[in-house]
Amino acid sequence: MIARELIAVPQYAVDVERGLSSSPKTLPTKLFYDARGSELFEAITELPEYYPTRTELEILREYSAEIARSAGTGLAVVELGAGTAAKTCTLLKAVAARQMRVDYVPVDISRAAVREARDRVRAEVPQSFVRPMVVDFSNGFDFLSSIPGPRLVLYLGSSIGNFDPPAAIEMLEGVRNELAPGDALLLGTDLVKSPEILVPAYDDAQGVTAEFNKNILARLNRELDANFDLDEFRHIACWNASASRVEMHLESVRVQTVDLKLVQSSVEFTAGERIHTENSYKYTIPMVNEMLSASGFSLEKSWFDRKEWFALHLARV
Ligand code: TRP
Repeated sequence: MIARELIAVPQYAVDVERGLSSSPKTLPTKLFYDARGSELFEAITELPEYYPTRTELEILREYSAEIARSAGTGLAVVELGAGTAAKTCTLLKAVAARQMRVDYVPVDISRAAVREARDRVRAEVPQSFVRPMVVDFSNGFDFLSSIPGPRLVLYLGSSIGNFDPPAAIEMLEGVRNELAPGDALLLGTDLVKSPEILVPAYDDAQGVTAEFNKNILARLNRELDANFDLDEFRHIACWNASASRVEMHLESVRVQTVDLKLVQSSVEFTAGERIHTENSYKYTIPMVNEMLSASGFSLEKSWFDRKEWFALHLARV
């Protein structure tokens, strides 16, 4: 006990041990987004196969003025999981055009990412007042109450899709409970489409997504003194039609034992055994409607790109 306290075991270590001893094996998905992971995700968003980012940007470029008009006036913009805010400037400019100044609060688990968001937005949107926050959403959304309203809360990308349906509702409910009448939510959702388009978006030819997935193992090597051999695990992406999600796994190439020295445990893998690392749910409009109403929101309007691959939804409390 005392030894553990002295070495400062990361708080997530218990979740790692629990995940790797359950069957099938899993790992906590928030581990993806350390500084290296955020950098790799940024690279994913620029891949030819990864259509969500550029498709959502297309919607923002086309409809930002209309979205800003629908959202209201005198808004503070709060972006959950802002990352480096690469897509947000278009919308912030449209909001700023209607109200002279815009308070912008990028919120993310990665400090490096929100710092970059802050610098980018300050440089690109002169009317912005940026106050970044580093928050782990598993600790709740009370931080929203420190931001004066009316608030437009952004949850872009396909981040909501990384929660399974009950957890997505719980997350949105958590946000909903901190909001007041007049506030709005702008939610991004990726839409159901052919697996020939979906799967390569999560398994690109250059192997960037594979490296992103394996970064979780690299992180455990660094932070829990583990000895995962990254070449002995294979990145897998597959479409699960009945659950409406792309699944990401890391598959053990052979029988092997991995030690996590900092927590004095070891994990056995059979050949072909998988660690289920992430899901990315894909939605239909009825699914979005159901998710929003189950969490206390009402869907006001949706905007789509030309191919209807992605959608942005404005919802009210
Ligand atoms: N929010 C992103 C998505 O679901 C996250 C993501 C993209 C991701 N590629 C990934 C997560 C690969 C794990 C592995 O689209």
